[in-house]
Amino acid sequence: MKGSVKSFSLIPISFCFLFLFRDEFAVPARHLCHPQQREAILELKNEFQIQKPCSGWTVSWANNSDCCSWDGIRCDATFGDVIELNLGGNCIHGELNSKNTILKLQSLPFLQALDLSDNYFSGNIPSSLGNLSKLTFLDLSKNAFNGEIPSSLGNLSNLTILNLSQNKLIGKIPSSFGRLKHLTGLYAADNELSGNFPVTTLLNLTKLLSLSLYDNQFTGMLPPNISSLSNLEAFYIGGNAFTGTLPSSLFSIPSLLYVTLEGNQLNGTLDFGNVSSSSKLMQLLLGNNNFVGSIPRSISKLVNLDTLDLSHLNTQGLALDLSILWNLKSLVELDISDLNTTTAIDLNDILSRFKWLDTLNLTGNHVTYEKRSSVSDHPSLSYLYLSGCGITTKFLEPLRTQQNMFRLDISNNKIKGQVPGWLWELSTLQYLDLSNNTFTSFESPNKLRQPSSLEYFSGANNNFTGRIPSFICELRSLTVLDLSNNKFNGSFPRCIGKFSSFLEALNLRQNRLSGRLPKKIISRGLKSLDIGHNNFVGKLPRSLIVSSFLEVLNVESNRFNDTFPSWLSSLPELQVLVLRSNAFHGPVHQTRFSKLRIIDISHNRFNGTLPSDFFVNWTAMHSIGKDEDQSYGQYMSIYYYFDSMVLMNKGVEMELVRILTIYTALDFSENEFEGVIPSSIGLLKELLVLNLSGNAFTGHIPSSMGNLSSLESLDLSRNKLTGAIPQELVLHLDSRVVYQPFWPNRTQKNKPHTSLKSFLKPKGKISKKKINQPN
Ligand SMILES: *[C@@H]1O[C@H](CO)[C@@H](O)[C@H](O)[C@H]1NC(C)=O
Ligand SMILES: *[C@@H]1O[C@H](CO)[C@@H](O)[C@H](O)[C@H]1NC(C)=O
Ligand SMILES: *[C@@H]1O[C@H](CO)[C@@H](O)[C@H](O)[C@H]1NC(C)=O
Ligand SMILES: *[C@@H]1O[C@H](CO)[C@@H](O)[C@H](O)[C@H]1NC(C)=O
Ligand SMILES: *[C@@H]1O[C@H](CO)[C@@H](O)[C@H](O)[C@H]1NC(C)=O
Ligand SMILES: *[C@@H]1O[C@H](CO)[C@@H](O)[C@H](O)[C@H]1NC(C)=O
Ligand SMILES: *[C@@H]1O[C@H](CO)[C@@H](O)[C@H](O)[C@H]1NC(C)=O
Ligand SMILES: *[C@@H]1O[C@H](CO)[C@@H](O)[C@H](O)[C@H]1NC(C)=O
Ligand SMILES: *[C@@H]1O[C@H](CO)[C@@H](O)[C@H](O)[C@H]1NC(C)=O
Ligand SMILES: *[C@@H]1O[C@H](CO)[C@@H](O)[C@H](O)[C@H]1NC(C)=O
Ligand SMILES: *[C@@H]1O[C@H](CO)[C@@H](O)[C@H](O)[C@H]1NC(C)=O
Ligand SMILES: *[C@@H]1O[C@H](CO)[C@@H](O)[C@H](O)[C@H]1NC(C)=O
Repeated sequence: MKGSVKSFSLIPISFCFLFLFRDEFAVPARHLCHPQQREAILELKNEFQIQKPCSGWTVSWANNSDCCSWDGIRCDATFGDVIELNLGGNCIHGELNSKNTILKLQSLPFLQALDLSDNYFSGNIPSSLGNLSKLTFLDLSKNAFNGEIPSSLGNLSNLTILNLSQNKLIGKIPSSFGRLKHLTGLYAADNELSGNFPVTTLLNLTKLLSLSLYDNQFTGMLPPNISSLSNLEAFYIGGNAFTGTLPSSLFSIPSLLYVTLEGNQLNGTLDFGNVSSSSKLMQLLLGNNNFVGSIPRSISKLVNLDTLDLSHLNTQGLALDLSILWNLKSLVELDISDLNTTTAIDLNDILSRFKWLDTLNLTGNHVTYEKRSSVSDHPSLSYLYLSGCGITTKFLEPLRTQQNMFRLDISNNKIKGQVPGWLWELSTLQYLDLSNNTFTSFESPNKLRQPSSLEYFSGANNNFTGRIPSFICELRSLTVLDLSNNKFNGSFPRCIGKFSSFLEALNLRQNRLSGRLPKKIISRGLKSLDIGHNNFVGKLPRSLIVSSFLEVLNVESNRFNDTFPSWLSSLPELQVLVLRSNAFHGPVHQTRFSKLRIIDISHNRFNGTLPSDFFVNWTAMHSIGKDEDQSYGQYMSIYYYFDSMVLMNKGVEMELVRILTIYTALDFSENEFEGVIPSSIGLLKELLVLNLSGNAFTGHIPSSMGNLSSLESLDLSRNKLTGAIPQELVLHLDSRVVYQPFWPNRTQKNKPHTSLKSFLKPKGKISKKKINQPN
């Protein structure tokens, strides 16, 4: 499921919060706080761990001072009772549901506002929070709370704001929430909540202004009578699995400002019903659903729209009349990508209609550019996506005046010839994707603006020939440079060392580059280096160990002639090492690779024996930590950069994309290893693919291999192994597994099991949060 969440704010929360306590700010004379309440707060603090860099915030919390003056505490002006506890964003670790914590919170019986957001709280939300009956404001967002939402929260009958967003909560919205009659804001986005849309519960909350349930796993239909939420301003339910049609009554709610339904499975035709002519609607995101048919004419009444996403509306090849959008003069963001229309969309037409347009996505439609008006009345775009638009001509020219562009994607078109030099002179451009066209060469820029802003450049999958142009090295801000799948020849561009430390990903895979790699440092900040499938020779430069962030090193299918690079073990982040198909040789010494998850050193001439404890320090393959940082999108700087590699698996060549988050494999095949298979191999419990075929291993298969319970593919063929397969292994290697045992004539299955294929696809959510443009 793809949840696309565009930027929107939770402004209503902070407003209400300030409003609640406005009275207290004004009162000059203070009461001292009650000693037992002060004591409770101090002891509460002692229940938690406060981590750097936040440790300073409790300085004001001195035991002998008035707790009403402490940071994050507010008291009732008349009685001195603590009514607000605001511990948001204080790097607090701990659980709330311990007996002591609950007791301390209950010693603050007058609490009206409790803000624990943006900390590291974990464990369940204690059901006893439901006893803090005076609460009007409860914010537990941005923590790691898990388990179900306690239904006791429905007892907090005076609650106006409840924020549970960005946790790991599961289960349903408790039906007891139907009693929270004063609720104006319910936020539960970005959890793992499920179940049908809680119709009876939520439609009872007639004071709701803001309902935020996006990025969960909710299912079922949206209620047709949603308009009973007659005060609703914000309805955020994108990134779920809602089905059925769009309830047109939604658009009759006059207060509505924001509607985001994108990334669900809603279907049927779009119908906005009776759109109020005074509609205030500013944001309407309907993209990535299964809607069919045309854009309803009534859309032209939504004159205040600034963001409109209709992507993937399947117009079923019908003609498209975009003129019904011309009324929406305030549009800033427009996504009408993948409309499945035969109508060609005229870029010039769009650009001359919307003078405030900033972001335009026409991906997947047929786009033309008819010269009519002059480019001077075009808006100044920041983001333009024209991928797969069948563009053949040199129509880039009109973009030359776009001096405020941040991102330009013209990948997957059929543009030929030279990449124009002026592209490099667009001084604000940060992201440029020209991949999968038929460009053949680069026109040199007249004068490169320095410093260049370009951070991401992909020219992959084109028809570039000749040497890699040296001006590329003048683009000093590049973090990602991808020139893979071209016909570049000549040597490795030495000037790349000029990137010093910005360059994080360099991909020169599948070209015709030759010669030795430079001895000099490529980039200290390098995280991924892929130079596979070229004609490089010589040794791996030892200077690579300076790139201490290196995660991926792939040099497959070259002619490197070197010994095993044990020295790479000093790279603490190394996760993927591919030396496949080169002329590496000699023994492989005991090495410590604590983060390595994929190693392919097959098709070389490594020899000698592997000691029995060889794998004891390859700990990432023992168990993959459930590390939060390894979720998609956070890997590799601010841009998603997808490393790929080819893994041979039983004669099936698999192209693995986004390998880092998903795969664990070890391929030592087609070398000259001998002796017994090290018994420590049984420690590599995360292994999915193990290939030791085509060596001279002897003796029995170590029984410890029975521990490899994740194996999907095993190949031990063409060795000198004897004896039987350990029983445990046979049990694991039941029908779901593809494997080739060491005796030659047992029937083999040659296709990987389907679950193996599923690893080739990304799993999980990718939220394409827009990178906010700098002010
Ligand atoms: C606060 O001070 C009182 C008396 O000075 C002492 O009994 C109590 O333990 C202290 N509390 C904390 C939490 O340090
Ligand atoms: C809820 O708020 C009302 C009005 O402020 C107040 O009278 C009532 O006591 C509150 N209820 C609880 C349980 O605190
Ligand atoms: C809706 O609110 C009424 C009180 O106004 C309450 O009696 C009823 O139980 C609530 N319904 C649900 C489903 O919570
Ligand atoms: C919409 O999807 C539901 C199931 O998800 C299906 O029963 C229904 O027929 C679909 N409606 C249309 C108009 O395609
Ligand atoms: C696009 O429209 C055509 C009709 O022109 C239809 O046959 C096709 O299935 C549609 N594509 C998709 C992905 O629905
Ligand atoms: C533009 O549209 C394409 C196709 O719908 C989509 O994959 C892509 O994420 C969109 N880009 C942005 C930045 O929204
Ligand atoms: C390259 O672009 C063409 C359209 O011009 C598209 O059909 C093809 O799938 C793209 N190839 C890749 C690898 O994205
Ligand atoms: C790529 O360039 C070669 C000449 O170097 C040419 O023969 C070939 O047709 C070009 N391919 C495309 C798709 O333009
Ligand atoms: C590797 O280099 C050595 C000399 O350093 C040479 O003897 C050997 O033939 C080379 N191997 C290959 C496969 O080129
Ligand atoms: C390994 O191969 C090298 C040649 O690359 C050879 O000199 C050495 O004797 C071999 N070692 C073993 C243990 O076979
Ligand atoms: C594993 O790492 C530990 C700690 O660095 C080290 O003492 C030990 O020698 C290593 N063992 C092997 C077999 O490499
Ligand atoms: C295995 O192959 C050998 C020779 O290749 C043959 O003699 C033997 O019968 C085969 N065994 C089975 C079970 O097919």
